[in-house]
Amino acid sequence: KKRVVSGVQPTGMVHLGNYLGAIKNWVALQDSYETFFFIVDLHAITLPYDAPELSKSTRSTAAIYLACGIDSSKASIFVQSHVRAHVELMWLLSSSTPIGWLNRMIQFKEKSRKAGDENVGVALLTYPVLMASDILLYQSDLVPVGEDQTQHLELTREIAERVNNLYGGRKWKKLGGRGGSLFKVPEALIPPAGARVMSLTDGLSKMSKSAPSDQSRINLLDPKDVIVNKIKRCKTDSFPGLEFDNPERPECRNLLAIYQIITGKTKEEVVSECQDMNWGTFKTTLTDALIEHLQPIQARYEEIMSDPGYLDNVLLEGAGKASEIADITLNNVYQAMGFLRR
Ligand code: TYM
Repeated sequence: KKRVVSGVQPTGMVHLGNYLGAIKNWVALQDSYETFFFIVDLHAITLPYDAPELSKSTRSTAAIYLACGIDSSKASIFVQSHVRAHVELMWLLSSSTPIGWLNRMIQFKEKSRKAGDENVGVALLTYPVLMASDILLYQSDLVPVGEDQTQHLELTREIAERVNNLYGGRKWKKLGGRGGSLFKVPEALIPPAGARVMSLTDGLSKMSKSAPSDQSRINLLDPKDVIVNKIKRCKTDSFPGLEFDNPERPECRNLLAIYQIITGKTKEEVVSECQDMNWGTFKTTLTDALIEHLQPIQARYEEIMSDPGYLDNVLLEGAGKASEIADITLNNVYQAMGFLRR
């Protein structure tokens, strides 16, 4: 079976962008691939964060994976920091990653500009190397992510190729694992719809956890009345009717796209259903669809959270399965890079 890996940071609430861009698509992959879905807690400390909250939101994010339909009997679900190999491989990869490659990362540039130089930890710069490690450890074929991660995926490919070239060709004793090269060079899997869900208050910027206003996003766990209120107050325009492809109507395109994905309708179906609607009618339609889609997820979430033992078990088992595979890759890399092994 081919392998798939992906993860979400446990910072703040999981929102509709994370769900439509990533988690929802993972569910479809777990039957035909060997899948590894982790909660990237080590990534969550790259910006100032609330330490007492970290473990809570890590659990909550894991519960959301399960509530969204990730099945622990098919996928390995685990917490990144529970598998030591992630940080270890990162160090080995970082020796072959030019600083220039990291300086070019758009997310680094944006986040560090906002935070100001003195407040930026080194980890914010080296973060994509940890992400490369997350992916390369599992010899992954595909990485299902939203559009904002494509540059990090491209970097992962470049690091894999560079390390393969530098060390993969040497004569070294391979201890199992798959394929001929040291690292499989992975590919991003970007969904055709939902790869870039935009803010509710500005159709030109993406929906994000770090946007100051909670009105700008729908969180997966938002109660009914909050969803009603957010959609009621979201930004619209004063054009007549509704349409997908008018570049002057980014909010309209975004809301129609959200409606399309959560109802599973085709674009044509949505166009014929909604093109003559006014905003008031469409907002009610969209709100109902969102609530109908999210309510079962929220109910499952509550159920999972009410049984901490179950969640602990899933994470323990997931980390066990992941460690076995991660350790094989890690050992091979040490071996190839010339380290004395015990
Ligand atoms: P993170 O936590 O920012 O986002 C998690 C996933 O959600 C997607 N996403 C979106 N998709 C569509 N529209 C949006 N507005 C939107 N916002 C976020 C992201 O593309 C991502 O797929 N570095 C990663 C986490 C990570 C990772 C990995 C992913 C760490 N190691 C290894 C894959 C493989 C991140 O910060 O995602």
